Amino acid sequence: MRVNISNKGKYWCSSLLLLASLCSDGHAQPASAPADLWWAPGSGQMLPASVDYPDESGRLGLINTSGAIGTSGHPFFEALGTNGRACVTCHQPANAMSLALTTIQQRWQATAGSDPLFAPIDGQNCPDQPRAEAASHSLLLQRGLFRVALPWPPRDSKGNVTTPEFTIEVARDPTRCNRHPVYGIDGTRHEISVYRRPRPAANLRYVSASKFGVTPFIGKTGMLAAVDPETGKPVNMNMMADAREATLKTQAQSAAHSHMEVSKPLTADQLSRIQQFELQLYAAQRWSTLGGALDEAGGPSGLGPQNMANGRDGVLGNNTSNYVFPMEDKWSQLPAGNDAKEKERNGFRASVARGHDVFFYRTFWISDAMHINTVGLGNPIKRTCATCHGMHMTGMDTANGWMDLGTTNRPWALEPPESPWAKELPSLPLFKLTCRADLPPHPFLGRVIYTQDPGRALISGKCEDVGAIVIQQFRGLAARAPYFVNGSAANLRELVDFYDRRFNIRFTEQEKVDLVNFLGVL
Ligand code: HEC
Ligand code: HEC
Repeated sequence: MRVNISNKGKYWCSSLLLLASLCSDGHAQPASAPADLWWAPGSGQMLPASVDYPDESGRLGLINTSGAIGTSGHPFFEALGTNGRACVTCHQPANAMSLALTTIQQRWQATAGSDPLFAPIDGQNCPDQPRAEAASHSLLLQRGLFRVALPWPPRDSKGNVTTPEFTIEVARDPTRCNRHPVYGIDGTRHEISVYRRPRPAANLRYVSASKFGVTPFIGKTGMLAAVDPETGKPVNMNMMADAREATLKTQAQSAAHSHMEVSKPLTADQLSRIQQFELQLYAAQRWSTLGGALDEAGGPSGLGPQNMANGRDGVLGNNTSNYVFPMEDKWSQLPAGNDAKEKERNGFRASVARGHDVFFYRTFWISDAMHINTVGLGNPIKRTCATCHGMHMTGMDTANGWMDLGTTNRPWALEPPESPWAKELPSLPLFKLTCRADLPPHPFLGRVIYTQDPGRALISGKCEDVGAIVIQQFRGLAARAPYFVNGSAANLRELVDFYDRRFNIRFTEQEKVDLVNFLGVL
């Protein structure tokens, strides 16, 4: 459903209670008019050089540094395959180039499930279930997850079958896909199905930066790093939940094949255009409902899309020379404010500044996290959020960023009945992995591991990689709930509560609120 132009303003105001004040008293005019919310494939609209979209905590801003982009004929925006989807179907401008659960639910309602978004191949729990029924799409409709089918056993870079260090049994198959005679692990396609959130296709200059930490070896494991097939040079392996794609081009080729069901590979020209587009696109919160402009002159240099566009990539920010998200103490010591509006704004900004300090300085004991507590720092270590999330401007890891935080593995992964999603079964599959007896067991999880998504181990075949997930960038969080690879945190508060539980941090209520406010303006 395209929003009718003449009604657009009205729709925008009425659909977002949070923005009621913005629409009624006009004290806070958007920097640029909000665009249509949903981008259908082949709509042919212009994507402006700078555009805003309303979201949960205010407005997201997108910047194209190459200027306005005509999307007619553009390979990111056209349905190139057989199922009517484009890249933009799952990487929506209004959702920081990812896809919010609310957007998915709205599309289901608006199109009675006929939108190409719900294509059987991965928009269903398993492809052969009845397309028209919501139950067939429950993981997409309730958790925002797409099916990701990976070959099992894994293939090496030349396509040869490798011998993994562990065996996989299906312990729970609520989606009826992993024991399926065609799609199952022992099925004719020899695939394993895991269910994952789309990751933002913006700010990718940072995500793919190769200036820092790119050596022929993977820092944390000593294995050889993947290489760019065009240049033969090692890549940083910071893309996709399992780093299975070396470059934006190999990623786009695979995405077209898997999600869009293209009949022939994308051309070199199409791949270049997609890559160029992704490398010049920046997304970050631009406006906070409570905190006002996030990108005003003289404001914190870590906020807003323009600072993203101007920023330096490949820089380690877990230090006070660079910071992960620089705030320069701009909001730390604000006056209380004169009128109610100013008091509210300054109070909120002070909370964001405190939230930054919780993120950057508040120590807690990090324990039993594979690829952090095993890299020579010790176990446990008293560090901060910024220890794992150290990349300047994105909060990713500068060195190949997969780690096992516990979001998908027992004992930390939420499972029924603890999971907030449990009431909405079918839930996620559960796999029982048994590491080979002649090799050392996983240092923290032992020889038998239960996991919802083995993560990097599905590619490397290594026991130590079970449940290790590549860290996503932090930008535009307010536009793309839920969080974590499996959508297990419905909102930012649940994300913070997960950490509190996982590392027994004992955040005060104030610290939690401040951290949520901070994450919400990134
Ligand atoms: C059906 C939905 C869907 C479509 C269509 C789709 N993607 Fe994605 N995209 C995803 C999912 C899901 C992931 C995460 C997969 C994973 O982590 O294993 C992802 C990940 C990505 C990433 C990785 C970002 C990061 O930080 O790791 C990029 C880049 C990307 N997609 C670009 C594209 C491009 C380019 C196209 C079109 C050729 C495309 N996508 C089409 C769902 C989709
Ligand atoms: C031991 C390393 C580690 C520490 C410490 C850590 N994180 Fe994470 N973080 C990760 C990993 C790994 C992921 C990806 C996990 C996943 O997607 O399931 C992640 C993901 C995230 C995301 C991205 C969610 C999304 O879906 O885009 C946010 C936000 C986040 N962490 C915030 C924090 C905050 C706040 C703290 C401090 C309280 C923190 N992290 C501490 C490793 C860590």
